[in-house]
Parts: sequence; C-alpha cells; structure tokens
Amino acid sequence: MFSHIDAAPADPILGLTEAFKADKRTDKVNLGVGIYKDETGKTPILESVKLAEQKLVALEETKSYLGIEGVAKYNLAVQTLLFGKESSIISQKRAATAQAPGGTGALRVAAEFLVAQTPNKTIWVSNPTWANHNNIFQTAGLTVKQYSYYDAASHGLDFEAMVADLSSAKAGDVVLLHGCCHNPTGIDLNLEQWQVIGQLCLEKQLLPLFDFAYQGFGVGVEEDAQGIRTIANMVPELLVANSFSKNFGLYNERIGGVTLVAADQQTATKAFSQVKKLIRANYSNPPAHGALVVSTILEDEALTKLWLSELTAMRERIATMRTLFVDTLKAEGVKTDFSFIAEQCGMFSFSGLNKDQVAKLKEEFGVYIVGSGRISVAGMTKENMPVICKAIAQVV
Ligand code: LMR
Repeated sequence: MFSHIDAAPADPILGLTEAFKADKRTDKVNLGVGIYKDETGKTPILESVKLAEQKLVALEETKSYLGIEGVAKYNLAVQTLLFGKESSIISQKRAATAQAPGGTGALRVAAEFLVAQTPNKTIWVSNPTWANHNNIFQTAGLTVKQYSYYDAASHGLDFEAMVADLSSAKAGDVVLLHGCCHNPTGIDLNLEQWQVIGQLCLEKQLLPLFDFAYQGFGVGVEEDAQGIRTIANMVPELLVANSFSKNFGLYNERIGGVTLVAADQQTATKAFSQVKKLIRANYSNPPAHGALVVSTILEDEALTKLWLSELTAMRERIATMRTLFVDTLKAEGVKTDFSFIAEQCGMFSFSGLNKDQVAKLKEEFGVYIVGSGRISVAGMTKENMPVICKAIAQVV
C-alpha cells in the first residue's frame, strides 16, 4: 500500500528547524522560523501568561469538552482585538468567531469553508507570501493566484501593480491580505492604500481574507488593526484568521481564531453554522488551555496591562536588533546597502539574499534563513549578531 509513495520535500520553514537541530556545529544560528527570542536567546513564557496559568490551575473545575466553537469569552475577546471595543460589527453581532488551533488551523478552516460554500474557489495571495499559504489553500482545494506586492528594486511595495493584478480578479474571488507585518517582506500598506483595496473589494465584489498573526509587532495592538478595521468598515463580508502564537508567545498551545463577518446577524449565524459543521468533521472541538490563558489575561485589567508592556518590550527589542543588524553589516565591510531592513516591520527582514547565498550561509557558516532570503530578526541577539554578519559579509 505504501511502498509506491514518494518522500515529500522538507517544509521550507519547519524543515529548516529539523536541519538546524541535526547540525552539530556549536556556533550555528537559526533565523528561519518566526519565533521570538529574548536577549539571552531563549523563547520566554510571558509573565502575564504565567500569572494567568496560575489562576487557571487554581480555579479550573473541569476538563469537559468545549463547544465546537471553543471558549465564548475568548471568541468575544478576539473580536474586540480585531475590530475594536466600540465596533458596530460586534454590537450588531455581524461577526462570529470559532477558536482554532493556531493561525494555520484558522486558515485551513476558512479555506475549507470557502471550498464548501462559495462558488469561485480562487484565492489571490501576494507575491511573495508566507510559504505555507499555498500549501494550506491548495490542500483544501482552492486555486491559488498571485498578485504583485514586492518591488525588488526599491525593496518596497509595488502598490500600482498590486491594484492592477487585483483588478483582474473575478467577482467572488478571495483576496488574502496580511493584516500587519507582512510575512515575509515586512512591508505594510498605509491607510490610503488600505482604503483603495477596500474600495476595490467592494466594487469588484472580492472577499477579503485577513491573515493576522503579528498584531502588536508592528506599531501597537490598536494601530496594527488599521487595515482590518478600515476594510471591515467598507465591505459587507470578510474572514479573518488570527493567531496568538507570537503576541502571547503561545506557540505550542496552538491558539488562534477564525472570524466570519456577514452583512447582518442572521446571515452570519447561518454561514457560521457551516464553519462549525466542518470543524466537527475535522477536530470536533478545540483544546481549552490557550484560549483560557488569553481570555484570562484580556478580562483582567492588570494582566492586560502587563501583557501589553511585555508585547511592547518584544517589539522594541526586535527594532533594536534591526538597527544593530544594519550597523554591524556595515562594520563588517558589507558594501551592499541594507538600510532598508530598518524600515521593515514585524519579525522578519526580507534581505534580498539569493538562493545560493542562503545555501552558503547554511552550509559554510551554520546560519539558517528561509530560502526566499527571509531572516527572522526576532532570533537575533547581541551575542549572535557578529556570527551572522560575518557570515553574510562572506557570501555577498
Ligand atoms: C513563520 O512564518 O516562520 C511562522 O509563521 C511559523 C510557521 O509556522 O511557519
């Protein structure tokens, strides 16, 4: 039965972690996967999370199943983070959220919902995009098309080309948008550009699907929701897949959400019943712990304050590493201008290094970055910076 099966290629991001673990060198550095490290090189459990967990352990009374959609107060907290406390989308009950196993789980649920319930089954993703998007959408049965996004010459956004490509999408097509901290480029739309995309979605009847995995890693929790809130106020329907892996440091708890917004409550409730049906067929109902941690923090003013300060510290440390990275490259004698890296936001820097350079970094210097040239700045420390920059100086 199995003997004819070919080996699958290694995952472009998680496959690197496997190779990194097997690497015997002691000065190796993993800047592949997007995981935050503190200045000592550890991925810490946030203090706010620890305190919430202590509270949970003391008060928890049962491990009985959750409902298909997960923890109700968590789902409401997700909507509040996405749309803002005063949003009419929430007060008019136009949104319905299901807790999902991480951002990937949320995207997969959204994709299966689109395949089952919408006619076109075509999704447009940015070029480039997160390496797992194609995998998730194609596996679910969607056809994936690309819209222009990155301009290699300017290391910036090619907004004109983006609009031109999306103008050729058909009514009913889905457009995948990165809510903030675009992965892998670190280049986001400004307010006016979000408005243009919102207008385009409205006029051409395109359905926005937001991937929102880095809220708080750009400018701040409220500021980073600008794109979602702008478009949600312009179009009648949208989907959001969000993740709390990074901003709560809850990577292995697999905690995210899929949110559906419809024109009115009745439509939202009916459509959401289909989301629940396919969750039931997939993993039945989600695990509780991550959702309870997040909702325990967000319903407690002091814990929320602590969480926000911890998130700010992570964001600021990454910003410091960006500047240090650019300065250290210069100090190592690298002539290529990498100053654009300081302008990018979020966890990643889209370095412009090519496949051969990326391969050399790994093979000769034990510095692991993604094949696209994406570097996780969140994995840099003062200590590993010289190793990284010396290696880059050798390959450029
Ligand atoms: C990343 O892009 O590195 C993260 O989102 C982790 C992952 O699952 O790929």
